Amino acid sequence: MCGIIGYTGPDQALPIVLAGLQTLEYRGYDSAGVAIDGHGALAVVKRAGKLANLRAELDQIQLAGTCGLGHTRWATHGEPNDPNSHPHVDAGSSLALVHNGIIENHAELKAELAAAGHTFTSDTDTEVIAHLVGSLHDGDLAAAVRAALPRLTGQFAVAVMDHRDPGTLVAARRNAPLVLGHRDDASLLSSDVAGLIAHTRDVEALLDDQVAVLAPGAVTVTDLDGNPAQGHRYTVDWDIAAAEKGGYEHFMLKEIHEQPAAVRDTLIGRTDAEGRIVLDELRGGPDAAQDLRHVDKVYVVACGTSYHSGMVAKYAIEHWAGIGVEVEIASEFRYRDPILNPHTLVVTISQSGETADTLAAAEHALAQRAKVVAVTNVVGSSLARMADAVLYTRAGPEIAVASTKAFTTQIVALDVLALYLAQERRALFPDECRDHLARMEALPALIEQVLGQEAAIADLAHTFAGADYFMFIGRHVGLPIALEGALKLKEISYLHAEGFPAAEMKHGPIALIGAGGPVVALATRGHVWSKITSNIAEVKARGAVVLAIATEGDTEIKAHADHVVYVPEVLELLYPVLTVVPLQLLSYYIALALGCDVDQPRNLAKTVTVE
Ligand code: M6R
Repeated sequence: MCGIIGYTGPDQALPIVLAGLQTLEYRGYDSAGVAIDGHGALAVVKRAGKLANLRAELDQIQLAGTCGLGHTRWATHGEPNDPNSHPHVDAGSSLALVHNGIIENHAELKAELAAAGHTFTSDTDTEVIAHLVGSLHDGDLAAAVRAALPRLTGQFAVAVMDHRDPGTLVAARRNAPLVLGHRDDASLLSSDVAGLIAHTRDVEALLDDQVAVLAPGAVTVTDLDGNPAQGHRYTVDWDIAAAEKGGYEHFMLKEIHEQPAAVRDTLIGRTDAEGRIVLDELRGGPDAAQDLRHVDKVYVVACGTSYHSGMVAKYAIEHWAGIGVEVEIASEFRYRDPILNPHTLVVTISQSGETADTLAAAEHALAQRAKVVAVTNVVGSSLARMADAVLYTRAGPEIAVASTKAFTTQIVALDVLALYLAQERRALFPDECRDHLARMEALPALIEQVLGQEAAIADLAHTFAGADYFMFIGRHVGLPIALEGALKLKEISYLHAEGFPAAEMKHGPIALIGAGGPVVALATRGHVWSKITSNIAEVKARGAVVLAIATEGDTEIKAHADHVVYVPEVLELLYPVLTVVPLQLLSYYIALALGCDVDQPRNLAKTVTVE
């Protein structure tokens, strides 16, 4: 999704802004631009395509100035061409503005401004904000922004600079992330902490309808009436190395390999000396002893890969804690009338904590007085701030668009939550809880074992890379992994891949099976093993080549499948943490074989801040 970076300080702004944009590339974008205040005049340069196009253009010109803005755009309104790229300027080209999000009433504002004589050069909603702020500017840029915001409907993070106010950046947000960076000599802003950590760890997440004015080494935040206000200020505790590739060819591969450590971190400190689960994080919200005991229904709400981890959680919560769970895509949940009350626990899952639909679903649940727990990876994210309580997944920064370590850590965090519910509601005996936790603590070493088969999985990927249609089938906890395996593959290799409940194949999808088409079957040992092997037989009988993900020591599976990747034996509910790993590697190596842009797949954004 779009990325914003801004700098004002003693140094030349352009190199800082370009480096920041490079850091934000992982979010996904299709054009980029910068604005630099060159002592009395603004220079705006923007180009469709990758950052390299913009850099090539900037190589031809000298842009000097110590205050600047940069933007990577992921097109929503208007195609990704030069005029639609950000920054956009106002009628007199006095100010330049960048924007993330969507202005829902842009058409009506545009008509109003056009009637007043404004002419527009792009198809974007953003240009309308630039003109609106420009039309309200009466010598005070921050006042103009404060006056413009109430006129905007939708979600936005905006940053603006004006050559009449040199060295100053003004920023504001509503339902889209914007973080300020504090330093003694400079001030920065970004849509993402990753854009700031090369310069400072002292950051402040701006809150909705706050306006920040940044000067070198000085930041002031106000509300819309100009009253002093404060965002959420905190210190970033992860290292810049965590956001770099560390010798791996791609972030995705690095993040796949980080899973043992990430899962270990997720589990650290969640138990007391007696081995009881302690989730202090929940005490600020739905109190463990009180509210959670009275929960009579759980909704799990998320998007994409996070939705799949939510599906896995359903099995764990229902089985261990004995509470009914519904799992729903956030964009659907928010537009129906789910029956919620104070005894409903709504678990919202989001790696970024900024996914627009998940935020809206959480808001909807809170409005109906349900208890909302956020499971997220990003400290201080919008979801973390709005939920009653937060369970952090502690996966470290996930840069690749294709989510991997966020997924496995989400499952582990959700499993801990499920056991905690079981413990507090006495649905399991204490020694059962302890046993399950001990088995979870073994997961990092078991993931390492799966990763040890990387070379063999890469070979399989080469075998399959020529196929143009993949099916993934699974049952019980194998089903979310089938869906996740298919999502991962289509996301980064652009191959058609679908996941199905294995028994549903004969109700339609089996018609797609042609001679030699690969089917990946989640076939670990458990109470549905004999069922899935029958489903494998059905597809094989129709010509499918089957790759089974099976339990180590299961020699019988070889009679059913053409290829087998083994994972170590674990508790049935914990298999997803292991079985997804070969599928991540398979997708990675197929995408690599096909020459795809693994970390920044086409059309996709890391953080989806529009609905
Ligand atoms: O940040 P979130 O977990 O809320 O993101 C949700 C989805 O956009 C995300 O999981 C997406 O499906 C990934 N690209 C999958 O790899």
